[in-house]
Amino acid sequence: MAKQRVLSGIQPTGDLHLGNYLGAIRNWVEIQENYDSFLFMADLHAITVPHDPAQLANNTYKVAATYLASGISLDYATIFVQSHISAHSELAWLFNCITPLNWLERMIQFKEKAIKQGEDVSVGLLDYPVLQAADILLYEPDLVPVGEDQKQHLELTRDIAQRFNHKFSSEENPVLKVPTPLIRKEGARVMSLTDGTKKMSKSDPSELSRINLLDSPETITQKIKKCKTDPTRGLEFDNPDRPECNNLLTLYMLLSGQSKEAVAQECADMGWGQFKPLLTETTIAALTPIQEKYHAIMDDKGYLESVLKQGKEKAAEVANATLLKAKQALGYSIPL
Ligand code: TYM
Repeated sequence: MAKQRVLSGIQPTGDLHLGNYLGAIRNWVEIQENYDSFLFMADLHAITVPHDPAQLANNTYKVAATYLASGISLDYATIFVQSHISAHSELAWLFNCITPLNWLERMIQFKEKAIKQGEDVSVGLLDYPVLQAADILLYEPDLVPVGEDQKQHLELTRDIAQRFNHKFSSEENPVLKVPTPLIRKEGARVMSLTDGTKKMSKSDPSELSRINLLDSPETITQKIKKCKTDPTRGLEFDNPDRPECNNLLTLYMLLSGQSKEAVAQECADMGWGQFKPLLTETTIAALTPIQEKYHAIMDDKGYLESVLKQGKEKAAEVANATLLKAKQALGYSIPL
């Protein structure tokens, strides 16, 4: 039997942080052996907010190198660049014409980013989730592993697929496969180090709010030293009055690979002065091997380019087949 398929992607904007790693990449690595994975760099999404053309290609290489350095294996995964596959833009246009405007206007991420952009809000920012639906549906994945913040976009993807199928195909023979999100409980929402009620985010103006995957041991030590805590002694999970405590314990649990029970027990009587060095050491130990592999891969652009070229070929084959089916369903039937 053919393996089930997984698809996911990350925008090549700014440095990837622990939220991207624990909410997405690490989960892809954990399940990869059992799936046929399609993983991409969402470089068309990266220009929905003002961007620097001089950085775009390098940021895209950096994300690809991070996938590989984190343990994504080419034995199981196809890694590709979104803009290499024109089917993404083409299907997004077709979906634009069947997506009600008010479905997009209520997207939380749009509202949040639009507020930050002020006057300079592009149509692309509003349309972003339609492109994301195209990214996903082109590959007919069974599962889409993402962090919690993508939940609404995945619901919209399902809605678009169902609307398309309902309008343009029969129930017995739907054109588009409706995918299922995979959002793990632990790590799906890594919080800011400076405010445990806010998501860790690339766009937070404070560098102290996040640990980037490429941060040096000194930087990690500084950031954890300065991170927000509370005055209570004894550390615990799931106390709604102690969001920072829950977040930091969760980071320790995920990065040390221990169970929640083991961490809860180990830290039950600890103060912050004892816990912070432990978290620092664990974070550095988890990130150092990834950083070493990352630098070796980035130093070999030829290898990276060959990975992306191979990825493009495999991805294009799958994407173009789905695009053709969608176009035919819409009535584009004149032979080339
Ligand atoms: P992006 O680039 O913002 O984030 C990439 C992945 O990291 C997860 N993530 C987090 N998880 C836990 N805690 C956090 N603080 C945190 N911050 C980010 C995100 O949930 C995501 O899984 N729209 C997408 C990119 C995209 C995509 C797709 C994803 C475009 N097309 C198709 C899946 C399928 C985005 O901006 O992710």
